[in-house]
Amino acid sequence: THVDWDIDAAEKGGYPDFMLKEIYEEPRTIRDTLAGRMVNGHLQFDELALNYDELAAIDRVYIIACGTSYHAGLIAKNLIEAWSRIPCEVEVASEFRYRNPIVTPSTLVVAVSQSGETADTLAAVRDARIKGAKVFGITNVVGSPLARESDGVIYIKANKEIAVAATKSFLGQVAALTLLAMLLGQLRGGLTTAQIRMLFRELADTAQQIEQILADTDTIEAAALACKDAQNALFIGRGIGSTICYEGALKLKEISYLHAEAYAAGEMKHGPIALIDPGFPVIVVATKSPTYDKVISNIQECKARGALVVAIATEGDEEIKKHADYVIYIPKVRDCFSAITASVPLQLFARSIALARGCDVDQPRNLAKSVTVE
Ligand code: G6P
Repeated sequence: THVDWDIDAAEKGGYPDFMLKEIYEEPRTIRDTLAGRMVNGHLQFDELALNYDELAAIDRVYIIACGTSYHAGLIAKNLIEAWSRIPCEVEVASEFRYRNPIVTPSTLVVAVSQSGETADTLAAVRDARIKGAKVFGITNVVGSPLARESDGVIYIKANKEIAVAATKSFLGQVAALTLLAMLLGQLRGGLTTAQIRMLFRELADTAQQIEQILADTDTIEAAALACKDAQNALFIGRGIGSTICYEGALKLKEISYLHAEAYAAGEMKHGPIALIDPGFPVIVVATKSPTYDKVISNIQECKARGALVVAIATEGDEEIKKHADYVIYIPKVRDCFSAITASVPLQLFARSIALARGCDVDQPRNLAKSVTVE
């Protein structure tokens, strides 16, 4: 009815769909998730009721989650291991719960769930607690089952997310997990107080960098239009860049029904390069990182076979224009924070393709916002 339409339009706040509205709320999500976390130069996690001796004794971290939340975990693994040197594994909850993972009282389990009610994630948490592990939950929903059943919670402050495909909650999760990685790094002596302050400042700066990305999305649109009729797409990157690719490919599959796969670029020769024929879209996360030159070689290998290359690159990188058909520039950030900034154009890219293919971006077929039954 007419009235429903008005309510709907009002809820979307002038945006054509919730997905776009929620992407534009990402800078605020970063700011809100970080608010109050750094007090007088020290990380603050009152609600974790931290027992520092217990945390200092942790010898293994498991991150368990499903879907997009699992991808936030893949990013966090890199940061946890780099800063604390504690071995960290990331596992989808539906696998974790049905095998016999090595979980002991000195294991920290970090369960990541936007809704806090995903059945597999909750089952995995219950198992881990029976085995004596300490469990931290990362969730967007206050009072959710995950929040109630964890030993401690870090809330992401994304507010309600309506579009089925997670966008702003993913960024909130990455921000919250980054804080946790900083805390573990501090406890293990891997990061000094000065380094923590600097990292926190740079993490906070990503809010403004996302605003910059959102201010000019023309190239993203153009690249999406060039790829919209493809049957398949490949996302490649290395290091943090590869983890972002998994999320970029998932977003595209979920909302546009275009088959997409993500690969660590170094694996190209071991299979995926066989797929490349003229016009095959390859989306490459090619931001400045220690493996930048390797990624450029991967791009050249794809170009040589006629691929249509869309690169996400660091502002000021002119060189890459020689190799890619479309270059989407993002501001220069420390490599680990590119997980946040580079994800934004990939979300917009998936949305533009989905719209060009006539899909409902907020409510993709066969998918639910939260999966509370197995
Ligand atoms: C569903 C949603 C995804 C989400 C996943 C995990 O598949 O469609 O967007 O990433 O569940 O949900 P959670 O609430 O546990 O993060």
